[in-house]
Amino acid sequence: MAYENILVERDPTISTLTVNRPKALNALNSQTLRELTQAVRECADSRVIILTGAGDKAFVAGADISEMVPMGPWKAREFSELGHVLTALIEDIPAATIAAVNGYALGGGLELAVACDMIFASENARMGLPEVTLGVTPGFGGTQRLVRLVGKLRAKEMIFTGDWVDAKRAYEIGLANAVLPREKLLEHCRSVAQKIAQKGPLAVARAKRLVERGYDMTLRAANRQEAESFALLFDTEDRREGMRAFVEKRSAKFTGK
Ligand code: CAA
Repeated sequence: MAYENILVERDPTISTLTVNRPKALNALNSQTLRELTQAVRECADSRVIILTGAGDKAFVAGADISEMVPMGPWKAREFSELGHVLTALIEDIPAATIAAVNGYALGGGLELAVACDMIFASENARMGLPEVTLGVTPGFGGTQRLVRLVGKLRAKEMIFTGDWVDAKRAYEIGLANAVLPREKLLEHCRSVAQKIAQKGPLAVARAKRLVERGYDMTLRAANRQEAESFALLFDTEDRREGMRAFVEKRSAKFTGK
């Protein structure tokens, strides 16, 4: 598929998707949401996908407000669904996902970031859910995923006031894994991605699924799933190779089998 609003660097190890509408601070219109969904599907068998924004100012400054201006409720519902399909897909795929937040991550932009497995932020990052300023609620899962990351009190403060946090505060409240100088952000994300890519692919994919699915389960049911996954992995070549490599004091060569 030819993409107009995103740049796609597809690679079996680390793919990079860059939202590329810098004139609109990479705002997500319907077409961009569809393109991202398609690209995430295409790169789902990479070991890691890095998501970032083009230009110096923004990761993604939100859903595209000019596209939303003429919308009625039905169109708005469809638009919201596009965001939900994309964010759920990001959580469902076996690839680990890293948001490289290189500036504003507001509204739909923060909602995209919090669907990823990790968030690394540049020092100039600003994160928030300012939708109430526009008279609406977050629409791409922000009311649910932000709460799970930072807790109810902080999430409600951010959502009800529309205030943004800077990168340092985002790190303090658990909204970023680390803060990096702007020029080091992508390099850092790639080095984390490389580290993940050297581990057992089946194990990483399973671990992602366990963490994601476990959130919606009782602790007992989630732990049962963990025990089952742990047991199933014992039947894989990767598990045999990983443990053999430890005993033989060498690095494992995983094949994903
Ligand atoms: N949608 C559409 N266009 C946007 C945009 C957005 N979310 N954010 C920025 N732009 C556009 C601006 O309209 C402007 O375009 P023009 O040059 O054609 O006028 C261009 O990007 C540059 O923006 P600014 O001139 O405003 O840049 P700034 O540095 O002065 O301010 C900003 C930056 C504080 C991020 C400001 O642009 C801003 O507040 N943007 C909107 C943020 C926002 O409210 N996001 C939430 C959207 S609602 C949502 O996301 C709903 C949902 O959950 C699904």
